[in-house]
Amino acid sequence: MAPRSPLTATPELLSFLQELHSQSLSQESKIEWHSLPGQTTNEFDDIMRDKFIALDQDKCELIYQLLRSINATTIVEAGTSFGVSTIYLALAAAQNAARDGSSKARVIGTEKEPSKAAVAQKNWDKAGGEIQGVIDLRIGDLRETLAQDLGTVDFLHLDIWTPLALPALKLVEPHFRPGAMIIADNTIKAAAGYAELFAYVDAPDSRFRRITMPYAGGLEMIVYQ
Ligand SMILES: C[S@@+](CC[C@H](N)C(=O)[O-])C[C@H]1O[C@@H](n2cnc3c(N)ncnc32)[C@H](O)[C@@H]1O
Repeated sequence: MAPRSPLTATPELLSFLQELHSQSLSQESKIEWHSLPGQTTNEFDDIMRDKFIALDQDKCELIYQLLRSINATTIVEAGTSFGVSTIYLALAAAQNAARDGSSKARVIGTEKEPSKAAVAQKNWDKAGGEIQGVIDLRIGDLRETLAQDLGTVDFLHLDIWTPLALPALKLVEPHFRPGAMIIADNTIKAAAGYAELFAYVDAPDSRFRRITMPYAGGLEMIVYQ
């Protein structure tokens, strides 16, 4: 028997998520990663404009579990794309807020491409009522959108091109509560791109501590002490 999903979700939502992950993987299998232009070029943006590049399903499920465990209700996502991982974040935040009774669920998403943001919104509408009203999607460059009001942040999902990982972390850092968690994707495969972030996190006076988890490509768990 297949193991039960860790998500508390309707069969319709589970099958919708499965469909989104399948579409993303199918697109990714056709990308020629070695011949891509640099991540901060317009050519790269043109190629990525119709791509999900969704976080893998097993990593999304891990994040959902972590969020339920640390009772995260205010979550920031750097890099939202078509909003697949965001559904997991919003579901966990909504369920935590409902369990808690005193806090409001809030997921601040960021996406610089308006066409991707529009698709994300459609996906969230289809994902159902439980996540409605939870996501505050900020369209534009995260170096501007994350400089605005965030509240006290429990969790940061760093799923962004690597040159933006450290700028995003620095913008959210003043808002972390002690014990806040950050998950960053692809940290073994893209270790060179994360060099500045790692140097910042590993600095002697840093309040961050990190471990690399052996998920495909590597997945970093960073805790703000
Ligand atoms: C890896 S994808 C995010 C995937 C998403 N978290 C998911 O699992 O479904 C990264 C996204 O970040 C967006 N992005 C890149 N640079 C950005 C910037 N400066 N500000 C905001 N979003 C940006 C890209 O357009 C892309 O859609």
